[in-house]
Parts: sequence; structure tokens; C-alpha cells
Amino acid sequence: MATRMADISAATLSTRYRETREQTLKLIAGLQPEDTVIQTMPDVSPTKWHLAHVTWFFERFVLEPNHATYSRFDDQYHYLFNSYYYSAGDMHARPKRGLLSRPTLARILDYRSHVDTAMQHLLQTDAADEHVLGLVTLGLNHEQQHQELLLTDIKHVFSCNPIRPPVSRTLQSPGTTAIEPYDYTAVAGGIVSIGACGDGFVFDNETPRHEALLHDHRIGNRLVSNGEYRDFIEDGGYTKAGFWLSDGWAIIEERDWRRPLYWDETLESEFTLGGNRPIDPNAPVCHVSYYEADAYARWAGARLPTEFEWEIAARSQSTAGNFLESNYWHPVASRGKQFFGDVWEWTSSSYAPYPGFQPLAGSLGEYNGKFMCNQMTVRGGSCVTAASHIRASYRSFFHPDARWQFLGFRLAKDSHGS
Ligand SMILES: [Fe+2]
Repeated sequence: MATRMADISAATLSTRYRETREQTLKLIAGLQPEDTVIQTMPDVSPTKWHLAHVTWFFERFVLEPNHATYSRFDDQYHYLFNSYYYSAGDMHARPKRGLLSRPTLARILDYRSHVDTAMQHLLQTDAADEHVLGLVTLGLNHEQQHQELLLTDIKHVFSCNPIRPPVSRTLQSPGTTAIEPYDYTAVAGGIVSIGACGDGFVFDNETPRHEALLHDHRIGNRLVSNGEYRDFIEDGGYTKAGFWLSDGWAIIEERDWRRPLYWDETLESEFTLGGNRPIDPNAPVCHVSYYEADAYARWAGARLPTEFEWEIAARSQSTAGNFLESNYWHPVASRGKQFFGDVWEWTSSSYAPYPGFQPLAGSLGEYNGKFMCNQMTVRGGSCVTAASHIRASYRSFFHPDARWQFLGFRLAKDSHGS
């Protein structure tokens, strides 16, 4: 939830609303109705469900409390498309979202239009006060997060189809670009300020800004590449328990993990949103779990950075270069120090509230805070993250065995060695 808002007019927000909702539809332009129904695992939601859920979010949290004459599109949608807001009512079980052949995609698109009309009407009335504008802004940022999830999830869906269809035929092959040798920048320890600063929208989990202690350390000059990760595999990285956390070793044995999620067994080809492509050895390794990132770091005589070490290093970097709006949906090799918009970077920090963290009152307090246990913080955003979300304070979080997200990592070392 937004804890701080840019000063924005209803007219500006009306335009942003239309653009954001149109962007979602652009992302599905290449899909057929059959594609939008499939759920391949509990973490993956069908495209159709994403389209409806973000719409339900506006209906439930913006329109119903604030639009005097709004009429619900369909009462059943409150059950079908509530994600995890228990205080807002019961919901359809997450692992069963793929069973919803009805409502059809066409009906969901009608639902979107119904809500869009009411939202634009609301933004033109006196009811669109500062509180409502804040809710709309949150709803748009929420939809942008689901745009990222939609792409992440449809990639998994298509990867499970033996004919490996591309999601986008316009995805360009980036080619191989030279990268610097892996190196480290020394950072002096001290008390640093962590968390959101500035005037724009932020999520509650980025606040409050607070002080943290850094020890002297060194942080990697770029992300670990595919070629470097292949060296780890070929050196027996997945067969030597000494590199692995106990939970990680148990999982790779149980699930027979031997390479990143979308690599084939030759270690030469991977599935991308553009279909199967040769693996670029210089591009950042992607779709690895926390356990795999941690094991690689141990093999390399290093460790993962803490989220605070990452944030301090990232604050001196440019956030330019995110590609979602230009259909460039795969991490590439030519992005400098790669702090932003390539892959989400695993950190060694547990996802936890900052000192003084205050979730919002009401159902929207369930947005972030209730997940602050048993997950790891990731930073930086990926090549499918909305450009306007890319900032040094942005945090996301995943269970340590998650791999379907665009997840990679960089290394760090203590100042005295590894
Ligand atoms: Fe959501």
C-alpha cells in the first residue's frame, strides 16, 4: 500500500489509469483464449485470472466504498477473484484457479470494461479526493505488479508445452556482448540509511527509512553470468553436498534439479518468452532458486549480499534501461553493472519488516506485511518489471525454492576474504 503519494491530479490519474489498463491488454495480444486458462502449478495463475483479479481489486477497494451508484458486474466474482484478502471475504483456492473455464475470457474482458467505465466516472466526480486518488494509485501499481506476474506465469505455462511456443514473436535475440571479468568494489562499513526516500509512490514494505549497520565488505561488479554458472554445473556443483544448505540439498535431490529451470540438458539452450534460444554465456543466469545462488556463491568462495549492502551499492547506479514497454523480455548481457531491470537478485536477507513498519489499516494491510516470514528478500527488479517500479528501495520476496520468477544473483565478500 502507498504510504506516501506524489501530488497528482484526478485528470493525470485518469490518463495513467487508461494507459496502465491498455498496457495489460497489449501483453496478451499474442495469446489465444486457450492459453489464458492454464495453471501449471500453484504459484502460477492463469492469464485470465490475472486480468480479472486486478479488476476485482479496483471494484472491491476503490469503487464499492467510494462510487455512490456503482453496481457489481457479477456477485460471484468476489469469491473467484479475491487473491488472499481474508478480511474481504472467502476466496477460491489458489491451486484451483486453472479449473475456471468459466467465466470465459470474453466475459472477463467485459468485466474489465465495466469497471473501467465506472473508474473513469469516479475520477471525474467530487468523490475523487486524496484518499481515493491514493487507492487508485495503489491499484495501478498493483496491476503493474500483475503485468510482471502475467508474463512470468505465461512463460511457465508455455514452457510446459512440448512444442515450446513463443509468447512473443517480436522478442529480439540480443546476441552476445562482452562483459567485464568478475570483480568486487570495496565498501567501507558504517551506519547507512535504508528504505524509501523521495516523493514518488512506494509500497509500505519499503518504509520506514531507517538506519542499518554495514560492515566493511566487497560487492560484485555485475550479475553472475550463464557461462560462469555453467562452470559451476560442469564442476559438479549439483553433486557436492558441501556447497549446499541442508534444505537446498534436500530439495535438489528430491526434485532432481541439475540446472536452471529453463535450461535444457545440453546446457546450450533455454526457453525464453521468445521460444527456445541458445544460451548467451555472458547474459545473467536466470531462474535459479535461493539455494542454487547460495551454493554457487559458496563454490566461488563468496556469499550473497545482504539487502542493505545491495541497496547502498545500487543507489549510485542509474535505473535506466528497463525493457518491458519495448517488448524486450529476456535478461541480456550488455547492461553495465546490472543493478536494475535484468533479474531480481537474491539477497541473504530474510524478508522482514523494517523497524517501525506499519501496515495500513483494513484489508489492504494484507498486501505485504503478512508475508514477512520464511521468505528471502530480492532486489533490483527484472526485465519484465514495470519501469516505474525500478528503484533502489523496491523489495520483493520469494520462498527460497522459487525459480519460476526472473531470479538471479550477484556475489559479495567480507573485506578480509570470503
Ligand atoms: Fe494481487
